[in-house]
Amino acid sequence: MGTRGHSEGITMSGGGLYSLATIGAKHVIDAATPMVLDAIDSLSREAIANGFTLSDMGTADAGTSLAMVGSVIDAVRARVPQAPISVVYSDQPRNDFNALIANVYGLGPFDTYVDNNDNVYPLVSGTTFYKQILPAATVDIGFSATAMHWLSSKVCNISNHVQAVGAEGEELEKFRAQAHRDWRQILLHRAAELKPGGKLVLINFGCDEQGRYLGNTGGVNMFDTFNQIWQVFLEQDRITRTEYENMTLPQYYNTVEEFSAPLTNPDEAVYQAGLRLDHIETRIVNCPFAEAFAEHGDAARFAEAYIPTIRSWNESIYFNGLDDQRALEERQQLIEDYYGTYRDMVRDSPEGHGMDYVHAYMVISKQT
Ligand SMILES: C[S@@+](CC[C@H](N)C(=O)[O-])C[C@H]1O[C@@H](n2cnc3c(N)ncnc32)[C@H](O)[C@@H]1O
Repeated sequence: MGTRGHSEGITMSGGGLYSLATIGAKHVIDAATPMVLDAIDSLSREAIANGFTLSDMGTADAGTSLAMVGSVIDAVRARVPQAPISVVYSDQPRNDFNALIANVYGLGPFDTYVDNNDNVYPLVSGTTFYKQILPAATVDIGFSATAMHWLSSKVCNISNHVQAVGAEGEELEKFRAQAHRDWRQILLHRAAELKPGGKLVLINFGCDEQGRYLGNTGGVNMFDTFNQIWQVFLEQDRITRTEYENMTLPQYYNTVEEFSAPLTNPDEAVYQAGLRLDHIETRIVNCPFAEAFAEHGDAARFAEAYIPTIRSWNESIYFNGLDDQRALEERQQLIEDYYGTYRDMVRDSPEGHGMDYVHAYMVISKQT
């Protein structure tokens, strides 16, 4: 994996497919928008009079945050009508920035704020959130949704599962330690970027007080299903043991305590850099595909709609986990078969499947 602070091999679906496949992620951002607007209300007029900057980190193709950004512009205008507004979109260098540009400038399928607003400056950066993205003391609101569970690197492969939620012993400890370092690194860079009095609104996947996390809220455990299918492929000798272990996702879901620690303990460097936790809560946003299935009851339709949302974020990891000595077509076929197996499982036994989103919603302020 990369040493430059962005996890090589992780890319969301390109060509604008990301936002189309992930309406649930938009629901999450919509649910967080009141927190962002409250944060804008709390900024001093002087701080934004000469220019307001919103940083949207890990934005993918920007489609899911367009409505939120539109609301931010309205809220800033209501406070300081003449303030120039910069909207800085950042993601990893391999992100599909063409799709992002298309969405922001209205060439995609979504309504955008760009046409109706003067003095608004969308800007794009390929700098990872494991580095400082913007100059010191220039950001008013730092925002990120559903992105910071990606670790800066894969600390090890997991021998019996595909995600840290199923890891044990030393492997789990390694993931935990990496996540501990990564969260602090993310926050220290944000501490540098924020203006005094600026705010972060971070909506991060996490593990809630009842042990629930993405795709594990009472029904079928989604990550166990990912793992089961690859294990069957391994047992059938369709993939090797090395390939199976390569399927490990470089992610970690912090608990509320793990998110809070660097922001509440005066001995921590993040706290000493002036960041304070104003608010943290966990929330669940229901899987829109499972909800639709409850309405229409058509299992095949559910399976066809549900698998692409999963595929949008884990296909690149799985594809890159396959041995590149295999012919390209063979690797592509294995990936098709993997998602085809998953689709058939959901179609044949749909009850309990779904990817409910479990997030920690945090508001963090930089001391004045
Ligand atoms: C699930 S998408 C979320 C997109 C959007 N924020 C949303 O909520 O719909 C996660 C995004 O995080 C990005 N990402 C992962 N690691 C990153 C890093 N180290 N720096 C910046 N972006 C990263 C991925 O490339 C991807 O676009």
